[in-house]
Formats: sequence, structure tokens, C-alpha cells
Amino acid sequence: MKISQATYAGSSTRVAQKPARRLPEIAFIGRSNVGKSSLINMLTGRSRLALTSSTPGKTKAVNHFLINDKWYLVDLPGYGYAKLPNKLRDEIAEVIREFIMESPDLAMLFVLIDSRHDIGKIDIDFLSELGEHGIPFGIIFTKTDKLGPVALQNQIDRDCAILSQTWEELPPMLASSSSSGSGREEILSFIESILKSL
Ligand code: GTP
Ligand code: MG
Repeated sequence: MKISQATYAGSSTRVAQKPARRLPEIAFIGRSNVGKSSLINMLTGRSRLALTSSTPGKTKAVNHFLINDKWYLVDLPGYGYAKLPNKLRDEIAEVIREFIMESPDLAMLFVLIDSRHDIGKIDIDFLSELGEHGIPFGIIFTKTDKLGPVALQNQIDRDCAILSQTWEELPPMLASSSSSGSGREEILSFIESILKSL
């Protein structure tokens, strides 16, 4: 799929405030700093569309980006950032929960996992919750430029083994590097197939 148009369409903290025009949403979630906003910029080819930062907790609201005038890429805040004040962390958790559970237009949620580390309890619990609520999701391993192909495959195999303890069938899995652009074609083709199936 070619992305010919990518524009910021609004920020919201409640589902009722999201852009009025209803189109399918493809959203990105994961631990704070895992690379959600960077991946959106890499996919759209627009380096400053979504704001990124080396300090975790950058994205605090739900950001919609209109793509090709047909669908939205949605950048969500990260979960699991321990250093945020409790009140702000609870507020962000509620923003995430409400969007995921209550947006009728959510077509696919990509859960991003840092390919350098074992998938954590917080991610496993989050995936279980998605399963319980029947939310369609896939996994994207990020920052693959930080390790070689063998180490990457070993890490993915380890994460699959961990996930197999709770999941009978594993979700679709992809890998990406926002620095090198690797994974871009695969992710865009996957999104295209989801949009076609709606
Ligand atoms: P929050 O909005 O704070 O939850 O973070 P986020 O998940 O949106 O992460 P963001 O895209 O802001 O990236 C966090 C940091 O990781 C930044 O310093 C990025 O430059 C870096 N980063 C993101 N993706 C990659 C990648 O693929 N490779 C490398 N090497 N660094 C990356
Ligand atoms: Mg972000």
C-alpha cells in the first residue's frame, strides 16, 4: 500500500471527542518508549507527524492521523511507565482503556514489544485482557536495528514460547525498525489486508 496522504486529525482523551468522521482505525500501543510514535512516522514517511522523545511518557492522549482520506493511524499513550505521578498514570490508563474497549471503529491494535528484551508481565497481562474482550490484535517487535538477525530470531522464539504458555494460537507477528525502515512493506501490506477484509 502506498501512503499518499497523512495528516494530523486530532487529539482526544475521551472516545466522544475523537474525530467526528468515522473511518477504520489501526492503532499502536505498548510500553512507554517502545517506539509507537516513531513507527507511525516511519510508516507514513513523515518524520515529524507523531511527536517522539527519548523520555518515556511523551504521548499522553489519543492522536488520530488521517491516511489517504480513508482510514486512521492512531497513536496511543504508552503503558507501564513507573516514573509518572500516580494520578497521571491512572488517567492515562483510563484514556487507553476507554479507547480500546469503546471505540467501535478499532479494526486492529498493534501491540509493540521491544525486541531487545523478553516480553514482560505487563505486556502478557495486557494481551490477556485484549483476548478476554475480543479485541483484534497483532504484535510488532520494534527497534530491530539494535540486534543482529540471529539474536532477533532467538528473542522472537523466546517470546513465542512465553506467549504459548497462555495462548493456544499466537497472534500475527511482525518486526520493524524505525531507524532503518525495515518491516515497513510487511506492516503496510498487513494493514491493507485488514482494511480490505472489513
Ligand atoms: P511514549 O509516547 O513516550 O509512550 O513513547 P513511544 O512508544 O511513542 O516511543 P517513541 O517513538 O517516542 O520513541 C522512543 C525512543 O526510542 C526515541 O528516542 C526514539 O528515537 C527511539 N526509537 C524508536 N524506534 C526506534 C527504532 O526502531 N530503532 C532505534 N534505534 N530507536 C528507536
Ligand atoms: Mg509516543
